[in-house]
Amino acid sequence: PQYSLKDAYRNYFPIGAAVLPNQINNSKIANLITTQFSSITAANDMKPTYLQPKEGVFNFNVGDKIVSFATKNNMKVRGHTLVWPRKMPKWFYYSQGKAVGKDLLLKRIETHVNTVVQHYKGKTYCWDVVNEAIPFFGPNPLDSNKDSLYIIAGEEYFDKAFYVARKADPNAKLFYNDNGFEWKKKRDRIFEYLKKAKARGVPIDGVGMQGHWGIDGISEAYLRETIKMFSSIGLEVQITELDISIYPIRSSGKVMKAADLKSTSDAYTEQIQTKQAQIYSMIFRVCREMKGQVTGITLWSPYDWANYLTKRMGKKNYPYLFDENLQPKKSFHDVVNF
Ligand code: G3I
Repeated sequence: PQYSLKDAYRNYFPIGAAVLPNQINNSKIANLITTQFSSITAANDMKPTYLQPKEGVFNFNVGDKIVSFATKNNMKVRGHTLVWPRKMPKWFYYSQGKAVGKDLLLKRIETHVNTVVQHYKGKTYCWDVVNEAIPFFGPNPLDSNKDSLYIIAGEEYFDKAFYVARKADPNAKLFYNDNGFEWKKKRDRIFEYLKKAKARGVPIDGVGMQGHWGIDGISEAYLRETIKMFSSIGLEVQITELDISIYPIRSSGKVMKAADLKSTSDAYTEQIQTKQAQIYSMIFRVCREMKGQVTGITLWSPYDWANYLTKRMGKKNYPYLFDENLQPKKSFHDVVNF
C-alpha cells in the first residue's frame, strides 16, 4: 500500500503488532511488519513461562531475537509480560514439593522481574508489569484462582512487581494490562484498584486495555469515557492487543463460547468487512483525538491468520488490518486515510 500505519500515525503514537519468531524469520511477513508498524510485542516469548521455565534458568534466546529485530529496524518494543498470575510457571508455587510460602514467592517475583527488566534495559520502552490480575467477579481485588499469587502473597506481589521494575529500569513506562474494559463492572473495578495503588505510591505509569473486541463493537462514548477516567488519575492509556473478531463477543450480556458460534456462518461478507472497518476507524479516530492521553495502539497480530481466536472459538476469523496474503483490507484503508 501507498500509506503505512506507522507513517500515518507518526505524529500520534506508535502502532504495534504482536509477533511470533517464525513471522520475523519469514521475509515477506518481516517486510510487512517493518514497513507498517513502529512497535513490536512478543506474542509469547517474553512471558514468564518462556523466559524462566525452571527456577534460575533464564532463556532469553528468542526474546533477544525479537528485540534485536526491532532495534535493527528502528522499532520500539513493548515488553509483555512480567507477572501473569494465572500463567506463572508451575514451579513458582512450589518449594521442595510443598506449597511455597509468601516470602519465597515474593523473592521469586523480585528475581524474575529484576533479571528480565535489567536484561532488556534501554531496549523495552514499556512493560506490562502485571497482566490480567483483576477478576470479573468475587470479593477479592486481585485474582483468586486456586494457585494464584494473591492467595499466597496477597496484594503485596502486585506492588512489589512495580517497585522492582521501576528500580531495574527507571526509564521504562510501567503498565497494568487487562481485558474486559468493555464490561463496565470490570472496568470500574480495575479503575478503583489502580486508583488506590497510585494513591499508595505504586509506580504505575499506564493502563493497557487489551481490546479483544468483536463485530458487536464498543460504543464511542464509552471508549472516550474510559480513556478520560484513567487519564484523570495520571495514567496513560494504550490499546495493547487489539483485534476485532468477525463474531460478536457477547450476546445478551453473556460472553460467547465456541459452542454458541456453532451455527454462525464464517463467511467474511462485504457487510461484515464494512462493519469491522467502521469499528476500527472509530477506535483509531478516538485515540487520535485523545492523543497524549492515548500513547499507543498494538494489534495482536500483523495480519489474519489462524491464531488464538480461531483456536478458542473453533471458527475461521479475520480480525486484523491485513489479510491472509498480507494485503491491506478495508479496515486498513479506513484507518490510514483520515
Ligand atoms: O509452540 C507450541 C507448539 O510447539 C506446541 O505444539 C503447541 C501445543 O499446544 O503449543 C504451542 O505453544 C502455544 C503458543 O500459544 C503458540 O501458539 C501454547 O500452547 C499456547 O498456550 C500459547 O497461547 C498463547 C496464550 O496467550 C498463552 O500464553 C497465545 O498464542 C497468545 O495469543 C495469548 O495471548 C494472550 C496475551 O498474552 C494476554 N491477553 C490475552 C491474549 C489472548 O489469549
